[in-house]
Amino acid sequence: MTLILAHRGSAGTHPENTMESFKAAEKAGADGIELDVHFSKDGEIVVIHDNTVDRTTDGTGYINQLTLAELKKLKANYHYKHFFNKASRIPTLREVFEWLSGNQLLCNIELKNSDQPHEGLEDKVIELIKEFNLVTRTFISSFNHYSLVYINNQYPEMETAPLYNDILYKPWEYAKTLGSIGIHPKYKVITNEMIETAIENGIAVRPYTINKEKDMKRFIQANCSAIITDYPEKAVKLRAKIKR
Ligand code: G3P
Ligand code: MG
Repeated sequence: MTLILAHRGSAGTHPENTMESFKAAEKAGADGIELDVHFSKDGEIVVIHDNTVDRTTDGTGYINQLTLAELKKLKANYHYKHFFNKASRIPTLREVFEWLSGNQLLCNIELKNSDQPHEGLEDKVIELIKEFNLVTRTFISSFNHYSLVYINNQYPEMETAPLYNDILYKPWEYAKTLGSIGIHPKYKVITNEMIETAIENGIAVRPYTINKEKDMKRFIQANCSAIITDYPEKAVKLRAKIKR
């Protein structure tokens, strides 16, 4: 069965990468969530997509130039204030893991270490995964494939998958050269034939970000391991219809 992973939580309907968005994904029946992580200035792992807080909060500045205390003051539902009475905040990865401990959801952690090095992020994230006993429910992706090779060598127990957004030649072979057992392509750069061959080669295919029903249907019918979507509720309902 194709799993439904909620991109930045239920980001199509809730402020992305917030606890509200993750909880909405759980309520929608998603199998897991995808989230993005950076280091704050004081080395805390925070869950936010961009390098700056400008787009998603009422603040301004680079994440790695702001302390956790400064980041926590910001309203992360700035553009969605009609949704909530209380302002939602940028969560730490620890806070997300505390919540994950109370459910069975999968968690795809995307390391945002391609534009910014965030040296040591891999070790700190995996340390936290182990502290919460989440090795079997988490997998790590990144556009920084050197980072994934580092993880695959240092922590072979962790599952990783390269993110990519252009057409790769035989991506299943490329994944194997990294030591990964999955691929996370932008949905436009993977054909059904590629998906089929990747699966035959034991590589899990989890395309992103699939928001239209016709695309969801295509990738579910192609037997992808998962689809990553901003609309988990829509995807869960559609999957039920397809499987009937
Ligand atoms: O992990 C899938 C997707 O999140 C990758 O791109 O920019 O949305 O983090 P982005
Ligand atoms: Mg992401």
